[in-house]
Amino acid sequence: MSEKVTVKKILKKKEQKEKIAMITAYDAPFARAADEAGVDSILVGDSMAMVVLGMENTLSITLEEMVEHTRAVARVRPKALVIGDMPFMSYETGPIKAMESASLFVKAGADAVKLEGGEEVVDQIKAIIKVGIPVMGHIGLTPQRFLKLGGYRMVGKKKEEEEQLYRDAEAVQEAGAFAVVLEFVLADLAKKITEKLSIPTICIGAGPYCDGQVLVLHDVLGLSQQSPPFAKKYVDLFSIAREAISKYVKEVKSGEFPTQEYYK
Ligand code: KIV
Repeated sequence: MSEKVTVKKILKKKEQKEKIAMITAYDAPFARAADEAGVDSILVGDSMAMVVLGMENTLSITLEEMVEHTRAVARVRPKALVIGDMPFMSYETGPIKAMESASLFVKAGADAVKLEGGEEVVDQIKAIIKVGIPVMGHIGLTPQRFLKLGGYRMVGKKKEEEEQLYRDAEAVQEAGAFAVVLEFVLADLAKKITEKLSIPTICIGAGPYCDGQVLVLHDVLGLSQQSPPFAKKYVDLFSIAREAISKYVKEVKSGEFPTQEYYK
């Protein structure tokens, strides 16, 4: 049997109560590392805007940039399911635009796409699925709408937010999404939504009760300048890189590098 993680296998993991591990990656080397580490899914997230391209938020990143980085990740031919994140204004204006944008991701090698929103993007989700592209939903804190939300804050504390989240979760599932990201949602609410839905929930800052977890790779590796409170740093790769580069600089200046073995 092929080792490739498919949408079908992701759905099965919920049935079998096997947790789904997902992480972002935006280029070939880190996609290879994530894949060899055994993640189930690699998300080429629009968080790339901040953690790779140094932008202030996700609103400025373009469809072309997202597609090119998805192509780089897909070139590694990961076993993990590769999901391309649809950036701001690549789907909001309607189903045709959404289908066209989504098609660019699969032509670049993605296995699926993700888009932000609940009830308001049902037509777009249905249209993308209609042309044969699997869709992952994303509700709760939707960073592409941080201006409307009033910042990057937890969602679901107010009664009306809680009710809206239930409606969004069900709408996304009914539209045909194969999974849904719950970002920065109260843990108990994420638990209830997870129990209610038949598709897997993938949490980020929404507690331990979901079917899976996702984190931004640069937060995990200590490469982000600013990380959200719910991210766990597993290594300080920034310091390790800075130390290695500073050693190189010193050796070049002193003439210690290159030694003969490097120019034989
Ligand atoms: O862009 C991203 O990295 C994401 C995750 C935080 C889910 O959407």
